[in-house]
Parts: sequence; structure tokens; C-alpha cells
Amino acid sequence: MGANPPAPKDDDDVIIRATDVTVRFGSKTILENLNLDVRRGEIMGFVGPSGTGKSVLLRTILGLNPKQGGTIEVFGTDYEKASDRERLAIERRWGVLFQHGALFSALNVLENIQVPMREYLDLSPKLMDELARLKIDLVGLAPDAADKYPSELSGGMIKRAALARALALDPDIVFLDEPTSGLDPIGAADFDELIMTLRDTLGLAVYMVTHDLDSLFMACDRIAVLGERKVLVEGPLSTMLEYDHPWVKSYFHGKRARHVVLPDEKSAGSAADTQGSV
Ligand SMILES: Nc1ncnc2c1ncn2[C@@H]1O[C@H](COP(=O)(O)OP(=O)(O)OP(=O)(O)O)[C@@H](O)[C@H]1O
Ligand SMILES: [Mg+2]
Repeated sequence: MGANPPAPKDDDDVIIRATDVTVRFGSKTILENLNLDVRRGEIMGFVGPSGTGKSVLLRTILGLNPKQGGTIEVFGTDYEKASDRERLAIERRWGVLFQHGALFSALNVLENIQVPMREYLDLSPKLMDELARLKIDLVGLAPDAADKYPSELSGGMIKRAALARALALDPDIVFLDEPTSGLDPIGAADFDELIMTLRDTLGLAVYMVTHDLDSLFMACDRIAVLGERKVLVEGPLSTMLEYDHPWVKSYFHGKRARHVVLPDEKSAGSAADTQGSV
């Protein structure tokens, strides 16, 4: 298995660059010398066996989890070494949808979306209302969702509302941890469409951890597979389909993948034809 060398340093489009990142909990090493680039305006999917550190990596990039080695630059700045002012500037440019606990249950949707606005901006209540209603519209929720509490929403509506909150500050990138888990396939496909529309219209970059093969096949510009404490392989879907590693092969050519790959040979590339009896 090849190493995962640091990327070249001359790419203006890189908005996140992780170099030799190592994360341990006690004696357990979760990530070791991991290297990764995420570029402006791309949907990057993260996949890998459960417990390999996908959520840990996301939290580490966000500065919520200490690392034992390496550097992470976000928008060209090392968040860990940044001044308070630089950190605020970075935090205003990213939005997050965590794997668990998407919304504050005591706040309605409008108030949830306004949480980051209150924290980072100094706006009048009227303007915040207007902006929050725009976000509600942007993610495809009906206007009356504004006054609803999370307990009154379906799973799909909660995901959309949480995405609206992640978009509250008009970020350059959103981090989504399993955004379509718990949704039915049509709801999940609608969510993927929404993400793609936001990439196309806002130039939004999307960092998406997912187990959802449909999302990986339909929405992602690039995919990174986490395993063996690093990025095993990254690239477009065609790279995944050709990559010779047991987990990657069984994931992208397994029974569940097959129905997604075969109907669309155009995006799947010729590898779909050549992988015979999986
Ligand atoms: N705060 C923590 N303290 C100790 N161990 C942790 C902590 N957070 C995560 N871990 C461990 O790190 C490993 C990676 O966890 P992580 O949640 O990143 O997995 P994942 O790839 O996101 O899995 P899943 O696909 O199930 O969400 C697991 O073994 C987990 O138990
Ligand atoms: Mg996780």
C-alpha cells in the first residue's frame, strides 16, 4: 500500500490542508501522519469502516479535538496557532452539521438558524429574521417551518434546518457528518440534489462524511477513503473503482454498490465493466 504523501504546496484552490496529522486517545492511535487537501467549490466525500476516525478527523480540523502531531491549515491559516481574531475569521467561513444532535430542541427553526448569527455578527433582530427566512427558503423548507420546534419536524426537515443553520454565515465550506443517515432513499437523493445546487450556485465546498453510496456516486467530486489510520486513497469515483484494496473493492464493487454503478456507466467509467464477478 502506497504512503499518503503531503500534497504539493502551490495550489491556490486548497482551502483545507492537513499535513502529517496524528491523533491518539491514550495508547490508541486513530490517525497517523494523515495528509489531505480539500479544494474550493468541491464536494468531497469521506468514507471508511465505522470507527476509523472520520468524525475524529472532522472534529480535529474544526479544532474541537486535540492532535498529537502535524498541522492543519484552513484558508491558509493554522487554526491551532491562530490569534483569537484569526480564529473568529475562520469560524465565520465554515458551517457544521454534526453527526449527532443537529438542532437545539428548545429553539424553533428560526432561532436555531440565528444562533451563529448572534455569536458572530452584530445584526438587528429584523435583519436576522430576514436572513434566517432566506436560509429556510434556500434549503427548500416551507416558510411555516420557521416557527416549528425540532420535535415537530420530520428527519428530513431536521437535516434541512440543520443545513440552513450551517449556512447561516454564508460559509465557504460546510462540514456534514452523515447528513443523509436516517433519511429514506428519496429524501436522501433530494438532500444530495440540494448540496449539488448549493455547490453550483454558491460555489460552496462540502466536506461530507457518508456511508451513503448513492451520495458518493451522485454528488461527490472526489472521495477519500479513511483506513489504516490515514487516507488510503483519494480521487474521483473512477479511482475508487480501480483501486486494489480489499475494503475499497468490496465497498465500491459489493452487492450494494452494484445497482448504483451499473445503471450509469458514464460516471462510473469503464471499471464497472471490467470488475466481473463481485
Ligand atoms: N473523545 C474520544 N475519546 C476516546 N476515544 C475516542 C473519542 N472520540 C472517538 N474515539 C475513538 O476514535 C475512533 C474513531 O471514532 P470516530 O467517531 O471518528 O469513527 P467514525 O469513522 O466516525 O465511525 P462511524 O462511521 O461509526 O461514525 C473510535 O475507536 C472511537 O471510539
Ligand atoms: Mg462518525
